[in-house]
Amino acid sequence: MEDIQAYLSEHKERLINELIDLLKIPSVSADPAFSQDVLDTADAVYKALADAGCDKVEICETEGYPIVYGEKIKDPSLPTVLVYGHYDVQPPDPLNLWNSPPFEPVIQQTEIHPEGAIFARGACDDKGQMYMHVKAFEFMVRQNQLPCNVKFMIEGEEEVGSNSLVEFVRSNREKLSNDIILISDTGMISNEIPSITTGLRGLSYVEVTVTGPNRDLHSGLYGGAVANPINILAKMIASLHDENNHITIPGFYDKVIELSDEERKLMAEAPFDLDAYKKSLDINAVHGEIGYVTNERNAIRPTLDVNGIWGGYTGEGAKTVIPSQAHAKISMRLVPNQDWKEITELFCKHFEAIAPEGVRVSVRPHHGGQGYVTPIDHIGYQAASEAYEKTFGKTPVPQRSGGSIPIVSLFENELNSKTILMGFGLDSDAIHSPNEHFGVWNYLKGIETIPYFYQSFTRLKALEN
Ligand code: BES
Ligand code: MN
Ligand code: MN
Repeated sequence: MEDIQAYLSEHKERLINELIDLLKIPSVSADPAFSQDVLDTADAVYKALADAGCDKVEICETEGYPIVYGEKIKDPSLPTVLVYGHYDVQPPDPLNLWNSPPFEPVIQQTEIHPEGAIFARGACDDKGQMYMHVKAFEFMVRQNQLPCNVKFMIEGEEEVGSNSLVEFVRSNREKLSNDIILISDTGMISNEIPSITTGLRGLSYVEVTVTGPNRDLHSGLYGGAVANPINILAKMIASLHDENNHITIPGFYDKVIELSDEERKLMAEAPFDLDAYKKSLDINAVHGEIGYVTNERNAIRPTLDVNGIWGGYTGEGAKTVIPSQAHAKISMRLVPNQDWKEITELFCKHFEAIAPEGVRVSVRPHHGGQGYVTPIDHIGYQAASEAYEKTFGKTPVPQRSGGSIPIVSLFENELNSKTILMGFGLDSDAIHSPNEHFGVWNYLKGIETIPYFYQSFTRLKALEN
C-alpha cells in the first residue's frame, strides 16, 4: 500500500479543507438552539459517505438526532468492518476562553504539534477522528484497495448519552452485523509512542438537589437557625470520600475487579512522566486514591466527581441570603463488572440516607453506561497492532483509558462483536475544553494507518477460518 503516502501528499490540502468545512457547523447536541445545525451536519456526513464511495447511504430518523448509515458490500463472503463515530460535539462554553471562535477553525502550530493543529470544537472529538475513516475509505475505494466490506454508523447524540442509538442497534441487528467494530474516538500516549486503547470506563451521572426552607431567607434573620442547603450539600459531598480518597458509598467497590500484580506491572511499563504531567496542568501534586499510581487512578479505578455545583447568589457583589436549594451534578466513572444501574441505585440510597434532618434530598439519574475491556489476543487487536507497526515503525502499547463510550458494551451484547479503539488524539488536545484541537499530523497519520488495519484484519480473518 505504498500509494497511501502519495495519495496523502497529493490530496493533503483537500483533506484538511473538507474537515474544516465540517467543523464550521456547530452540531452541539446538548443545546436545542443548535438543532438545525445538528441536522445539517447529518446531511453533510451523508454527502461525505456518498462521495467517498458508499453504495448505499441513509439518514436514519430516530426520536432524537438521526443516525447516518452507509455501506459498501463488495462480497458478502468477505469480512465486514463496522465503523462507529459521532458527528455531534460538546457545547463550546466558556466561550471567552477560546483564542479563536470554536466554529471558525484555524490551523496553528503548538509545541506538541509543530506541523500545525486544527483548532475548533469537535476537531478531535469526534469529527476529525470520524472523518479520518471516511477519507481512508475514499482512498481504498478510489485506488481499488478495499479488501473487505464496510459499514458506517455515525450518530449525533454521543455527547448526550446515545439514547436513540440504543434502540437503533437493538432493532437493526441484521443490518449492522459485522466481524469487528472500529472506532477512533479515544487517544494515544504521544506521537512518538503509539498506543491502542484496550479499555473504557463506565459511567453513572446524577444530579442532586438539597432543599431546605420554602424560600430564600435573610441570612441575618434566619442564619444559624435553619439548615443552609449549600452548607449541607458541601458536607454531604465531602463525606463521599474518606481520608484515603476511597468512596464511602456502601457496596460501591463490591464488584470491582482488582488487577493482578502481573497486570499492574505491565501497566506500569507504559511510558509516563509524572513531572511533565504536573507541569502540563500547573499543579504541584497529583491527588487520588491511596495505593494506586496516576495511571491506575485514571483508568482502572472507579471515581466520584462533582462536575458542577450551584445555588444561592453568585452574581456581582454581595447578597446576604440563605438559599432554599442547592444543586450538584455528580459523575461516577466505573470499571468493568460494576453495573451502572446498580451503582446509581446505591448512590441514591446512600445520598438519601446521609441527609440530615431539616432538608430534603432528591437524586435524578441522568445517563450512564458500562465499561469495556478489549482482549489483546483478538485478531482485531492484532490487526490494529500490525497497522501501527507499518505507519509508526513501532509496536503500539496497549492502554486502558479513563473515558467512556457507553455504547461499546452495548455493541458487544447486541451485535456480539468486539470493538477496536484506534484513537489518534492526545490528552493535551483539550477535548471538551476551550481551544480543542487536532494535530494535522495526527489526522493524516490516522488516514494512513486505517487502510492497513483493513488489510491485516481481512488477512487474519481468512487465516482464522
Ligand atoms: N470520545 C469521548 C470519550 C473518550 C475520550 C474516551 C478520550 C477515551 C479517551 C466521548 O465523546 C465522551 O466524551 N464520552 C463521555 C461520556 C458520554 C456518555 C457523554 C465521557 O467520557 O465523559
Ligand atoms: Mn467522542
Ligand atoms: Mn466527547
